[in-house]
Amino acid sequence: MAWPMAAKITGVAGYVPPRVLTNADLEKMVETNDTWIRERTGIRERHIVGPGVAASHLATEAAQQLLREKNIRPEEIDLIVVASVTPDMMFPATACLVQERIGAKNAWGFDLSAACAGFVYALTVGAQFVGAGTHKKALVIGSDVMTSIIDFQDRATCVLFGDGAGAVLVEPAEGGSEGILDFHNDIDGAGGPCLYMPGGGSLHPASHETVDKKMHYVHQEGAQVFKYAVRRMAEVACQLLERNGFSSRDVALVVPHQANLRIIRAMQQRLGLDDSKVLVNIDRYGNTTAATIPLGLRDAVEEGRLRQGDLVLLVAVGAGYTTGGMLLRWAY
Ligand SMILES: CC(C)(COP(=O)(O)OP(=O)(O)OC[C@H]1O[C@@H](n2cnc3c(N)ncnc32)[C@H](O)[C@@H]1OP(=O)(O)O)[C@@H](O)C(=O)NCCC(=O)NCCS
Repeated sequence: MAWPMAAKITGVAGYVPPRVLTNADLEKMVETNDTWIRERTGIRERHIVGPGVAASHLATEAAQQLLREKNIRPEEIDLIVVASVTPDMMFPATACLVQERIGAKNAWGFDLSAACAGFVYALTVGAQFVGAGTHKKALVIGSDVMTSIIDFQDRATCVLFGDGAGAVLVEPAEGGSEGILDFHNDIDGAGGPCLYMPGGGSLHPASHETVDKKMHYVHQEGAQVFKYAVRRMAEVACQLLERNGFSSRDVALVVPHQANLRIIRAMQQRLGLDDSKVLVNIDRYGNTTAATIPLGLRDAVEEGRLRQGDLVLLVAVGAGYTTGGMLLRWAY
């Protein structure tokens, strides 16, 4: 079933903080080594924030770059949706902080939490408002400062993540023929115990005890998450293609969530795609959670790998579990 959303991406931008943390740097912090990290994850380095830099700052950088590139005034933005699991604060929403900083005084907005599938969910939401005709220029942002919730004494998680943000502009389209053609999002709450941060919410508010027990860090059953992601990334990709009458041969580019190169390659193999049709930048950024897909789109545009009319597939799996997929006819 195709779902013509009458909305398209008309601009992309991304931002990563300048400071780079290499595998060699991590070797000095925990018992790990560059070979293990590269072979098991595909990551060589990641960008990390300095003190005082939060998700809203990265999001603002990406948003401002997008406004400059599109040459549009901030007042023209009417909706801001920010996907993040590392907002500056519990409230106000990061969207409010971004709105104020960029001067988008005619926009309303909110944050959305869907971990690594957050950007696909946020794009689905932004596209619904634009497709319904009530909004003309939606800013959809994925921004995460994963280093704020990572235990740099836990080698099983600290090597995986990085910080970054990406933003896209969503504008009205000819429904069904260009822009967003279809999406599939789902959640599977049974996956909750496999990837979560126990402290800091209403169940375990911050206390000396929660800090002592390291409850404000990411806890992960890596192998479980790995297996689920391998299965669901491929399933959703195939499902979206099949129900829209496409085969993987029609795909110009898959921009997958960047959690582990082996997860990406497993999906790629299942779809029978060669490397030129799959965007990979995990080597440079690690897993930036909600930012991986917009950063991937930004890199694809900069590398000239996206042309008007190309069939593009976005696919992500994250904590929850959350799974998101989207099929687009690239339209700018
Ligand atoms: C985390 C992950 C990279 C681990 O890779 P893996 O091949 O499954 O490795 P395992 O967990 O089986 O661990 C293998 C060994 O490597 C060790 N190891 C773990 N991290 C290590 C590191 N950074 N350096 C060196 N060794 C490490 C483990 O302790 C284990 O040692 P043991 O056999 O002596 O117990 C992998 O499971 C993964 O990517 N999972 C999904 C993560 C993800 O996508 N998260 C975000 C959700 S979108």
